[in-house]
Amino acid sequence: MDRIRIVGGNELHGVIPISGAKNAALPLMIASLLTDDTLTLENVPHLADVEQLIRILGNHGADISVNGRRERQGESYARTIHFTSRNIVSTTAPYELVSKMRASFWVIGPLLAREGKARVSLPGGCAIGTRPVDLFIDGLTALGANIEIDGGYVNATAPAGGLAGGRYVFPKVSVGATHVLMMAATLANGTTVLGNAAREPEVVDLAKCLNAMGAKITGQGTSTITVEGVPSLSGARHRVLPDRIETGTYAMAVAMTGGDVILEDTDASLLETALEAIRRTGAEISETNSGIRIVRNGAGIKPVDIVTDPFPGFPTDLQAQFMGLMTKSSGVSHITETIFENRFMHVQELARLGAKISLSGQAAKVEGVSRLKGAPVMATDLRASVSLVIAGLAAEGETMVSRVYHLDRGFERLEEKLTRCGAHVERVSD
Ligand code: EPZ
Repeated sequence: MDRIRIVGGNELHGVIPISGAKNAALPLMIASLLTDDTLTLENVPHLADVEQLIRILGNHGADISVNGRRERQGESYARTIHFTSRNIVSTTAPYELVSKMRASFWVIGPLLAREGKARVSLPGGCAIGTRPVDLFIDGLTALGANIEIDGGYVNATAPAGGLAGGRYVFPKVSVGATHVLMMAATLANGTTVLGNAAREPEVVDLAKCLNAMGAKITGQGTSTITVEGVPSLSGARHRVLPDRIETGTYAMAVAMTGGDVILEDTDASLLETALEAIRRTGAEISETNSGIRIVRNGAGIKPVDIVTDPFPGFPTDLQAQFMGLMTKSSGVSHITETIFENRFMHVQELARLGAKISLSGQAAKVEGVSRLKGAPVMATDLRASVSLVIAGLAAEGETMVSRVYHLDRGFERLEEKLTRCGAHVERVSD
């Protein structure tokens, strides 16, 4: 099993190209099930989660062809992928496939809307919390679906004339349930209004793509989304938006090591709250023509408190990385996680590098230390694992991160991007 070996201590200098967003690519790929025409997605990152979803969509009958075109020689391997689901051959998403990636549950929306039925395995447990599906069930029921849970599967059927427009106010903001209800409502009879909807940029990107396919969605990016149902959707061509979590991760890596890096092909407006928190730690951040420049020279890392929140708040997907940065701050910082109840598994691994962190419920108190020391550590989930990389980059000596498959789910060519900026990071295959 691969491991990542890091020898800490080097500053980062150079350019890092930012990939297309994993969390936009996944729902966009799923949206291809809504039409019998071809949906072409550009700037799709090459990640384990994308490959897994390709297998899942194939199981439903999608014909998928990948152009392995390099968009910039030697730097980015973004791909253009064509998805054509002329016929849906199966409306069942089996446990073996859904259990590997929670987002695959989201096929329930398009399958139900287009075929009038879907049988989708419950996603099961997840390392970062229980992550139930009640909001999906309640929301789809509000569109007229009849839903039963049987033998670990959600069996959903639409009424004879198809789903009907309805009104649903999410009791809690959910990115996935917003994606699914928006997709399902595109083909419903009548108008759907979704209240307290997620405002994440990935929701906006999905709405933009669905509208290019002929959907009638307005209000995306606000907490009320309106979807006027249409009889059918067509194909389209859409470019996946930049990955704001990858952007924030590398910005935090530079704030940690010091240096001067341009993050290319990204957009500061996707992560203002996180960038503001990084600025307050003492790094300088400016916008360039095609992205963001981040500089930290000499000065220490100031402690900054953060609380995770749905967009436009501080993203939970950057919480672990920010904690990694705070381990070397010059004081005490407090980090509060409000989205997932168990997203602090990186704490004990960061402690192995010398970090001083105490936990009390959903809050972590991080007492900055002047030096971290390399050690063997274990990745526990995607974002937790990259927080160990950030800490390892600033630790003395060697940090060996095992269970790297977590990183490969969401970070494209991480070791190459960091090495090109002067870091000592390599993949070791046993
Ligand atoms: C998306 O997950 C992202 N995944 C997650 O990124 C991200 O952490 C999360 O949104 C929050 O921003 C993808 O986009 C593929 P939610 P999602 O539904 O949609 C609760 C990463 O590292 N909830 O917004 O599954 C839930 O338990 C991943 O890239 C219910 O209670 O998250 C959580 O507490 C990890 N009932 C909260 O809502 C439901 O039916 C928000 O979850 C659904 C969710």
